[in-house]
Amino acid sequence: MPRALRHLVPLGLLAAPLLAGAQAPSSAAPKVIPAAAVTPADRWWEEGVVYQVYPRSFQDSDGNGVGDLRGITQRLDYLKTLGINAIWISPFFPSPMRDFGYDVADYTGVDSTFGTLADFDALAKAAHARGIRVILDFVANHSSDQHPWFKESRSSRTNPKRDWYIWRDPAPGGGPPNNWLSVFGGSGWTRDSTTGQYYFHQFLKEQPDLNWRNPELQKAMLAAMRFWLDRGADGFRLDAFPHFVEDSLFRDNPVNPNWRPGSGEYDSLQAVHTTHQPGTLDVLCQMRRVANSYQARDGRSRLLIGEVYASPQQLNVYYGKNGCGAQLPSNFGLLGAPWKSDVIWQRIDDYMRALPAGRWPNWVLGNHDNPRLATRLGPDAARAAAVLLLTLPGTPTIYYGDELGMRNVPIPPDRVQDPAEKQQPGLGLGRDPERTPMQWTGSAPNGGFTTGTPWLPVASDVDSVNVAREQRDSASTLALYERLLKLRKTEPALARGSFRLLPRQGDVVAFLREDGSRGRYLTLVNVGTTATTYAPAAGDRLTRGGKRRGTIVAGTRGRRGDRVTAADIALEPNEGVVIRLK
Ligand code: BGC
Repeated sequence: MPRALRHLVPLGLLAAPLLAGAQAPSSAAPKVIPAAAVTPADRWWEEGVVYQVYPRSFQDSDGNGVGDLRGITQRLDYLKTLGINAIWISPFFPSPMRDFGYDVADYTGVDSTFGTLADFDALAKAAHARGIRVILDFVANHSSDQHPWFKESRSSRTNPKRDWYIWRDPAPGGGPPNNWLSVFGGSGWTRDSTTGQYYFHQFLKEQPDLNWRNPELQKAMLAAMRFWLDRGADGFRLDAFPHFVEDSLFRDNPVNPNWRPGSGEYDSLQAVHTTHQPGTLDVLCQMRRVANSYQARDGRSRLLIGEVYASPQQLNVYYGKNGCGAQLPSNFGLLGAPWKSDVIWQRIDDYMRALPAGRWPNWVLGNHDNPRLATRLGPDAARAAAVLLLTLPGTPTIYYGDELGMRNVPIPPDRVQDPAEKQQPGLGLGRDPERTPMQWTGSAPNGGFTTGTPWLPVASDVDSVNVAREQRDSASTLALYERLLKLRKTEPALARGSFRLLPRQGDVVAFLREDGSRGRYLTLVNVGTTATTYAPAAGDRLTRGGKRRGTIVAGTRGRRGDRVTAADIALEPNEGVVIRLK
């Protein structure tokens, strides 16, 4: 499994998806997931594609080397041409930037590095005018220690906001109240000299955990959500929400017997008392009620995406009962998966089998916390992965630059920014390499990202991997993404059609998407590094007398328009194709 933030690749859950009571992965014939009923128009996110913008790195409009909201607005036409439907923007709220915006000092403002509230309004308006929804990143597990709430809370034991955070006396013999750890390494407790008590922080000590058991805090946070919904936000990505609630008895976390020294310290314990606690879903449900109250007014659904690294069974809990959860608990099953056909096949099968009836699937292959797709898999396999991402059933999320084949950029030690690297150097936990500036052009300084000095170095491959060049090259990765995104828009079978994962053949992962008479598509991805031939097994109903013919409508090797016989299809190493079947 590639290195990642420890809380992000969780507790061995993805590696061992058999939670107590969970359904066993099956080797039986794959389940056919029926075509989705036609949904009300307001459930735009079901056919939508989400694109994650890391605002520091997307486009700088004022030459200070850091991207900003105006920069995003300037690039909306690019996103519209690409064919995505929503942008999720990582945090741009006022922040001391200890964790680059994931430490919020004011939930209802814009950090001056990124612009102003008026810039946000202009961005939302311009995005909506292009049919692009705007999803904000709501960091509700913790605030910054510079948030006025925390300043008040730490000022005395009797301050009215004391209970908005989590304070405890030292352990009887002194020292932290229990063994809970920070995701970024070290104890999760920091002693505050003003009152002699410890406060809890699941991340940096500058990111104190909010106490979601406090009704006043709940009210204030939900009001912050309303603030942005009133300004036109179309929903939220909920940061780190499995951490929202902690064990009320403050019991020690048990030791993780599988921990290997050399990986992050956080993994040395099993976070069973600090994540996925009873009560987390109640918080989510409150948030969903807020979102739904906006839908009740104008019929447009507001989307909640939940950041949760867990087994399919655990993820499903967060869809909530009676729809009172997130519409899309993020599915990271393929993000940490080794690029091997048995693993990929099994992850797809496990996830689709476990999906509760009536819930909508989603797929994520990259984000700002994990190494880039093209670095994890290599450039060819990354293109094949795009074929999977954009033809599997459900809502895909694209991480900015993955559509170009951007790769991790090595960061010289004196330019390291990320606290994950600074706190535990040398373990490969740093996330700067996947957060480098968007590569717009090879013919302007800094890839067209900034006229100043970029906050992180621009990739050395910017001359070949960039938007301007790839837009002119029909064989580019960008052209492949555009083609696949267009197909999703025009072909109901790919957007909402039924799904049947076909039995794995060697290195080939294959599935069928079908929408009655409106189309039938076969996706084939050769996950291996040798050429192979795919011949559907008897009973797959792909062939008629061995003769069913098809046409390649998108693929990684420029074979578009090629006629094939679905009974026998040759695939190059790491080749992915989408075939329209007759
Ligand atoms: C975000 C990280 C961040 C952490 C703390 C995560 O889940 O994706 O980038 O460091 O939460 O807010």
